[in-house]
Amino acid sequence: MTDKARLHDRYPELGTGSLPVSPYIDPAYWEAEKKHLFKKTWLHIGRVEELPKKGSYMVRDIAALDASIVIARDRSGEINAFHNVCSHRLNKIAYQPYGTTRKFACRFHGWAYDLDGSLSGVPDEKSFMEGFDKACLGLSKVSCDVWQGFIFINMDPEPAQTLAAFMEPMYGGLDGYPFEKFTACYGWSTVVDANWKFALDAFQETYHVAYLHGRSIADSLAQNEEGMLHPIDGLCGDVHRRLSIAGNPNTVYGNPQAATSGLTQSSVSGSADIGNRIAAKALAAGAGGTKIDLSQVTLPEALNWTKHPHWAFDINVVFPDFYLSCRPNYFQAYNFRPISHNKTLFEARVYYPEMKTAGGRFYQEYMKVTLRDVLLEDLATLEMTQEAAETGAKTEMVINDFELMVRHQAVVVDRIVEAGLAADAAALAAE
Ligand code: FES
Ligand SMILES: [Fe+2]
Repeated sequence: MTDKARLHDRYPELGTGSLPVSPYIDPAYWEAEKKHLFKKTWLHIGRVEELPKKGSYMVRDIAALDASIVIARDRSGEINAFHNVCSHRLNKIAYQPYGTTRKFACRFHGWAYDLDGSLSGVPDEKSFMEGFDKACLGLSKVSCDVWQGFIFINMDPEPAQTLAAFMEPMYGGLDGYPFEKFTACYGWSTVVDANWKFALDAFQETYHVAYLHGRSIADSLAQNEEGMLHPIDGLCGDVHRRLSIAGNPNTVYGNPQAATSGLTQSSVSGSADIGNRIAAKALAAGAGGTKIDLSQVTLPEALNWTKHPHWAFDINVVFPDFYLSCRPNYFQAYNFRPISHNKTLFEARVYYPEMKTAGGRFYQEYMKVTLRDVLLEDLATLEMTQEAAETGAKTEMVINDFELMVRHQAVVVDRIVEAGLAADAAALAAE
């Protein structure tokens, strides 16, 4: 990719004009997104490690779905999802964010549900009317499936496509990435007063890095003569997108800024020439050579797909709100969960291998605080942006070639929302 070949040229269907601001500030647009987009697609809600054994469950209240969902591992080890609504008089049946149980017991009148959602116990069952059939009164199921250890749900009882078919076109090439080996998880979450698309946009372009992260990570990434950070390349799928980022080959070993960029490439086979050897050594030591031997790791084809010599990491945006950045030695899984047209729950999780040595632990702690500070830099602009957008001073935003992912998101969301609204209008006209 050179600066002369524009990313936009490859995707003429996305256009090149300005983007309208209204989808970021309009409550009615948000209602349409909920109905036609979030309630119709696969949404990432957590990892299988969060449900380690039979009877493990978690409860997720998801504003974009107007629902509280229970996700539980049943006796056969299967993961199922249900609405957190009792079939009797609609009380909740699970009350803690995480837990382990043999049954879900409603606290109102004591109905009990098995881990697979079936109704197993009704106090004073005889007092119900004829035709009362426990078999028909299980919890309402929600479509649920797992991809690479990530649990997804879909509010559509009959999803338009399977989770595998949803992920395959853009992310099938991640097969073989050792997600399951990165079991040391750290996370942060916060509610940001900004539209979810504004929030995600700040994580899917590199234009801001030289300025917003000018004093933190900018120097660890590849810059051109003008000090700008252009991505190596970007891919836009039907709904998903991916961006590949290069590191600065002159990054000094042990440079703290390199840590968050995942610049440990020198330890990975088929690797490029950059590397933060301190980090790589610490990682290898931390893994003790037993759990994960980086020298044996071969990158899946969807990582560094450009084969760039200075590749640092990829940003994968799994439509609509899941950011998954896979690096040689760890991965970041962020969700931008909308709460309203101008509020977003940002959930950031980072997954490392377990560190077994003091050096490994030190490296990991260092990564954590450095990443936290970078995230704070990213979040700092969002509420100001929302406030400014809501003044109505501007009705459009201007997008440069390397902000293609911002455009792709806006266009894809709008395509889906508009199709949904058109279908609604046609249904209304036919009444
Ligand atoms: S509402 Fe749940 S048992 Fe009555
Ligand atoms: Fe950033």
